[in-house]
Amino acid sequence: MMLIVVAGSSHPGMAHSIARALGVKARFPMVERFPDGEIHIVAPAVEGTVVYVQTMHPYPNEMLTEMEFAVDLLKEQGAERVIAVVPYLAYTRQDTRHVDGEAVAVRTMLRLLEAAGVNDILSVDIHLHRLGLEDLSAMTSIKLHEVSAVDALAKEAGRFLNKPVVVGPDSESERWAKRAADLLGSNYDVLEKHRISPKEIEIRPKTMDVKGRDVLIIDDIVSTGDTIKKVIESLRARGANKIAAAFTHGVLSGEDAAAGLYRAGADYLVSANTINNEFSRVDVGPIIAGKLKELI
Ligand code: R5P
Repeated sequence: MMLIVVAGSSHPGMAHSIARALGVKARFPMVERFPDGEIHIVAPAVEGTVVYVQTMHPYPNEMLTEMEFAVDLLKEQGAERVIAVVPYLAYTRQDTRHVDGEAVAVRTMLRLLEAAGVNDILSVDIHLHRLGLEDLSAMTSIKLHEVSAVDALAKEAGRFLNKPVVVGPDSESERWAKRAADLLGSNYDVLEKHRISPKEIEIRPKTMDVKGRDVLIIDDIVSTGDTIKKVIESLRARGANKIAAAFTHGVLSGEDAAAGLYRAGADYLVSANTINNEFSRVDVGPIIAGKLKELI
């Protein structure tokens, strides 16, 4: 069955890369903003299964709204099933009510996308710290699917390092640290991270011996950069040799995020292109295309 790939406005290059790996041509509907900020979309007639590609950065709320409008329109335009490819799925860190009255925003987001007509979501290295993929899938009728950029990231960073120790900043990053270590044939460890507030964290180093060793830090998201920065500082203080950090989603939200990582002592930084940034040298388009072939 031929897949139709339709690009949202956030990441046309990703839609192009996925389509190329699938051997089709992506479609790029006109998405405009009226002077008052309203979104205006004109989409082509479609049929069968449509892959709609929209990452959620920058401006996650804008991208979400555009996705709802576009998917609803694609259903009107003939799509029977819409697989939303959302390489960076925002709101996944808001998965639990910590204080009375707090929004479980990821559930609200999924409900909105369900109402718009999304049947499946395929994303990359989803932030699944408290909940699993099944838990997210159970929130609505949308089926969640995931691929990982970690093998490709570890391979890319590994070219720069000699028999590195792999380090995850917190226990939640263990699944990626283990995967990267397996691929590189090395060992791994995870540190202890405590979030004091959304902007403040504390990293407690373990007694891991990194003196004279190359180190690969692996994480899913770099947002303010504070987490990785603290890990780098702690590794430097323990006499690590070369330090590389590889991460899937370079949100890089702090003004100083990228410079701060180098200042802390990073030698090499690489991310996937789920979000375009200066480090996004790993193209996940072909990885996503491979998974799409399994889903149809
Ligand atoms: C948190 O659990 C994530 O895996 C990342 O470590 C976190 O989102 C990074 O945030 P920041 O760069 O702001 O420290």
